[in-house]
Amino acid sequence: MLFKRYITFTLLYAGETYKIKTFSGEYDDLRELINKEIQPPNFGRCDGMGRCATCMVAIQAANPLNKPNLSLSCQLPINDELANKVFSILPYTP
Ligand code: FES
Repeated sequence: MLFKRYITFTLLYAGETYKIKTFSGEYDDLRELINKEIQPPNFGRCDGMGRCATCMVAIQAANPLNKPNLSLSCQLPINDELANKVFSILPYTP
């Protein structure tokens, strides 16, 4: 019998906290998960082609004194590297 190894992390958006439980392969990337679970307006407009920068997230540093790292969520595959991290979904500003 095969067991799925779950990956848990936190998403922050518009004052809400979302505790995510997923597994490798459930979504192509973090952008897809965010669009299916939260659906922020105008998020990930180029469908993961890396051209629009509307899928930006800030990855909270382990040390709160350090600045968060910014990343395109379409470039973040769902894998163990996301485990236990906190991601803030940045609002789209045209
Ligand atoms: S979805 Fe367009 S850059 Fe990520």
